Amino acid sequence: MMQSAKISVQDFSLYYGAFHALKKISLGFPPRSLTALVGPSGCGKSTLLRSLNRMNDLIAGVRVEGRVSLEGSNIYDPDVDVVPLRKKVGMVFQRPNPFPMSIFENIAYGPRVHGEKKRSRLQDIVEQSLKSAALWDEVKDRLDSPALKLSGGQQQRLCIARLLAVEPEVLLMDEPCSALDPIATEKVEELVMDLKKKYTIVVVTHNIAQAARISDYLAFFYLGEMIESGVTRQLLTNPTKHQTEDYLTGRFG
Ligand SMILES: Nc1ncnc2c1ncn2[C@@H]1O[C@H](COP(=O)(O)OP(=O)(O)O)[C@@H](O)[C@H]1O
Ligand SMILES: [Mg+2]
Repeated sequence: MMQSAKISVQDFSLYYGAFHALKKISLGFPPRSLTALVGPSGCGKSTLLRSLNRMNDLIAGVRVEGRVSLEGSNIYDPDVDVVPLRKKVGMVFQRPNPFPMSIFENIAYGPRVHGEKKRSRLQDIVEQSLKSAALWDEVKDRLDSPALKLSGGQQQRLCIARLLAVEPEVLLMDEPCSALDPIATEKVEELVMDLKKKYTIVVVTHNIAQAARISDYLAFFYLGEMIESGVTRQLLTNPTKHQTEDYLTGRFG
């Protein structure tokens, strides 16, 4: 799994001040597949996800050790510019967070920041991104209306479309369905199943049933350590570590 990984962590540790939140994690994320990070609350899933595009840099007192390799280059090398890094490795959060502007402007924002000025080109990008996020048919007649008027599920797909507009390669999603109802959740799950044909996707979820439905690979975390990882079906039916089995059988978490 490490060899062919699009992005991987190697002996990666993260400290919040004196607190050792991630302990020597090594894990690879294969391209064009979806890896789910699971484990009880507080085990470090979000911390690891944020480490993959250096979002933790924004938190005071954070220190890291080890490597995160994106196609072989360490994203923590001192000369790495985080702006193109975060364009390549984009993130979707628990609560959809559209900008307080129109649907069109939400999608056009990123490409504009990265230098696209032509209106016709922006129109193409908006249409293509919304189509890729399975939202176009629902919004094509009201692109100028406020994004915040959309339903929660539509807002989350809009946030995914906003990511796709800047042509990322890796998509990070932190419990993307936790604020959504079952129908909206199903739509987002269908969408990520489709997107994983093209992108490397890492999803944090505390929902094992969801991980079983959408993921190809699974990594189980407990108290800052990665306990085990592997092909989802194998790990779910045949965990080798007792912590994993305890978690899967609902004994804690
Ligand atoms: N900004 C922070 N400062 C200090 N400790 C933090 C911070 N963010 C998270 N932690 C701690 O790091 C551990 C892992 O947190 P987190 O990655 O959010 O876990 P999870 O996403 O698995 O619930 C927890 O003990 C949490 O309290
Ligand atoms: Mg979390």
